[in-house]
Formats: sequence, structure tokens, C-alpha cells
Amino acid sequence: MLTPFERPAVVLDCGTGYTKLGFAGNGEPSAVIPTVVAVPQVRSRPGPFDDLDYSIGDAALAAATSSALHYPVKQGMVESWDVMERFWQQCFFQHLRVDSSAHNVVLTEPALNTTEAREAAAEVLFESFSVPGLHIGVQAVFALYAAFGQQERGRALTGAVVDAGDGYTSCIPVVNGFVLSAALRSLPVAGRDVTRLVQKLLRERGAPVPPDQWLEVARQIKEAHCYTCSDATKERAKFDADPGKHVRLWEGVNAKSGARFRCGVGVERFLGPEALFRPEMVTSEPAQPLPEMVDACIQSCPIDTRRALYGNIVLSGGTTMFKNFGTRLQRDIQRIVDARMARSGGGALRVTVTSHGRQQHAAWFGGAMLGAMPEFASVCHTRAEYAEHGPSICRSNSVFRDIA
Ligand SMILES: Nc1ncnc2c1ncn2[C@@H]1O[C@H](COP(=O)(O)OP(=O)(O)OP(=O)(O)O)[C@@H](O)[C@H]1O
Ligand SMILES: [Mg+2]
Repeated sequence: MLTPFERPAVVLDCGTGYTKLGFAGNGEPSAVIPTVVAVPQVRSRPGPFDDLDYSIGDAALAAATSSALHYPVKQGMVESWDVMERFWQQCFFQHLRVDSSAHNVVLTEPALNTTEAREAAAEVLFESFSVPGLHIGVQAVFALYAAFGQQERGRALTGAVVDAGDGYTSCIPVVNGFVLSAALRSLPVAGRDVTRLVQKLLRERGAPVPPDQWLEVARQIKEAHCYTCSDATKERAKFDADPGKHVRLWEGVNAKSGARFRCGVGVERFLGPEALFRPEMVTSEPAQPLPEMVDACIQSCPIDTRRALYGNIVLSGGTTMFKNFGTRLQRDIQRIVDARMARSGGGALRVTVTSHGRQQHAAWFGGAMLGAMPEFASVCHTRAEYAEHGPSICRSNSVFRDIA
């Protein structure tokens, strides 16, 4: 019989919007599903509902009209462990079709996760799912490894990770494999705000989208047609001068009647992603534009780490997937740095933003890499350790540095 270390570990990256789930050693998650649980209206309390009486992911969203939706993750942090447990139940048994007691688990966590949350995750996974082993790792650290691939395996890396997901965007400085959490910065603007902005702009222009399909259509349009421009005023002038060249046609199907509808996608193509560079377009909260936020984050790190951090800004998360996103971010940060150097009379400092093929699911992929390394055994807490010491074994966060 195979031991858990001979079977692929299950890798779970549960984001505010989407959960990426699959197996260590793979290049892509087996499934990417909305992080949501639907409980039929009559039993809308997420209490001890029976295992078959709820749905998760896309099936949950499809049941929205007759169910109460519960989102277990808010701003990257687990808010309800009861809902999370139900969600994981179907992740293991329905989506991955595995016996949770036979596979080790790699779980990702946000950089500012609390000790309590880490221990609660260990408790649920060891006690309710009887997992044989568990490693909990920070999404940003995994993302750094995803960007640099196998050749760097086991080496403690340094870089500033810009993680833009569905619910929030943050800049996380990592030095020699450790997160400098005091310097971490976040921006309350991410993918779902861009989707809402695209929806608002299209709606104002009278696009004929069925009312209950708006959000989904706006998200699909965003993912297919939006891009980051270098200058929004000039870009608008280009659209005005030759709309035929820049407007894209979107065709959808009315889910109820089956009728086709069409709309032109114009300035929303670049104005949507612009919200990350001008947060006032979507929020009244005080928020720095993304390039300023990344600069402020690195400036608050120890002076001897800054050159390395500016030189290795790594992208992670679905909202960094807009075409030219990395180029614009690099240029804007470089301008801020150059202006500061010109004022202070300092020398040149090169900013490098790394776009890479694994960006979209970077945290998941880094976890999948770790789970497939022979050294995984040395950073995986076992059920025997849990039985002896309890959830506190997961209190401290082992990083890749431990493997080197
Ligand atoms: N090709 C694409 N272009 C632009 N945006 C995309 C693309 N693919 C996915 N997205 C957006 O990325 C977001 C999901 O990203 P991700 O899975 O990294 O977020 P998350 O982990 O759920 O959230 P968070 O990290 O905020 O907790 C969604 O808003 C989605 O619409
Ligand atoms: Mg995420």
C-alpha cells in the first residue's frame, strides 16, 4: 500500500473570490471554483446541515435564487470555520474525489494570517478530515517560488510580491524567505471592483445585458478584453479617433430566453484596469495608487534590502493578468524612484517587475511545487505530531528556507 508521501499532496489555495484546488506536482489546479457555499433557504443557517444539503462553487452560485450564500473568506482571511469545513468537504470528496485521510495537504494562507486562524485550520484538517500531514505556507512566499521555478528550489528568495486577486490587492516584501509583515501594504481595490466598474460603464451606455447576468457578463468581458494602457487620456483619444479599430463585439446568450444579445466593448477595456492606478474611480476610502503603494511598501523595509526588493517585484493573482499590467507598473514605480533619486542626488536604482507564466495561480503553483519536492517531508506536520502536541505545531510558519 502507498504511504501518504507516495501519493500526491492535495494543494488548496482558498481566495476571497476563487479557490484553486489540485495536486502537488501538477502545473495547473484541477479546478478553480468560487469560494462560496449555498444552503437552501429553508435551512439558511450554516449550522449542522447535513452533508448533501448544500452546494459549493459554481453549483452554489447557480442555486443562488433558492439558497442563502455564505462566503467563508473575507479579504483573504477565513471568517467562518463551519462554512469552510463544509466547503472543504466537497473540495476533497466531490471535486478532487480523494479520501482526505490518505493525502497530505498543502494549504496557503494570507501574509497577515493570525496564529488562531492557522491553528483552527490545523484542527479542522486533522480532526474533521483526518489528513495524514499538513503544511501551511504564505501565499506570497509560494508566489515567489512559482515565479522562479524549479532551478531555485530550496533557496530562500527575496522579492516584493504584488498580489492582486478578487477581494484585495497587497504588496508583501519577502526577504530571505521571511515576510516583513510590518511593511506590508494593501489596497482596497481588486478584481471585483474592476468587474463592477466595467459593469457600470457598460450599463451607462445602455448595453442590452439581462439584469441578472450583469456581473457574470462584466467579469467575462473584463477577462477577455480589458488591458492596461500607458496613458488613459491618450488612449481615449485613440478610441474616439477610430472606434472601429478598438471596440470589441461581445455576444452573449440570455440564460432564461435563450435569445442572443450583443454589445460593443469600448473605453471600459482600459478604464476598468485603470482603477488600480486611480483607486478614487471605485472607492471613497483613502487609497494610494498601486505604484505608490508598492513604493511606500519597499521604502518602509530596512535600507539594505530595498535594492533587492525594487529589483524583484513579482506579480501574483488573477488581477495582474491584464495585458501590459507589469510594464505599466514597472514604468510608474521607476518614475517615482527616479524622482526621489533626482531630489536626493542619489545614483540609479533599477526597478524590475517580473511577469511570468504562472502568475494567475502563482500561490497555488508554488504550493504544488513544494508538495512535490522530496524535502516536503521535513516541513510537513504529521498527524502523530498533531496527536502529541495539538494545533500549536502549526503556530510557527516554516518557510522554504528550512529546506535549503
Ligand atoms: N485573464 C484575466 N484578466 C483579468 N482578470 C482576471 C483574469 N483571470 C481572472 N481574473 C480576475 O482575477 C480575480 C481572481 O483572482 P485570484 O484567484 O487571484 O483571487 P482570489 O485569490 O480569489 O482573491 P484574493 O487573493 O483577493 O483573496 C477575479 O476578479 C477574476 O475576474
Ligand atoms: Mg489569492
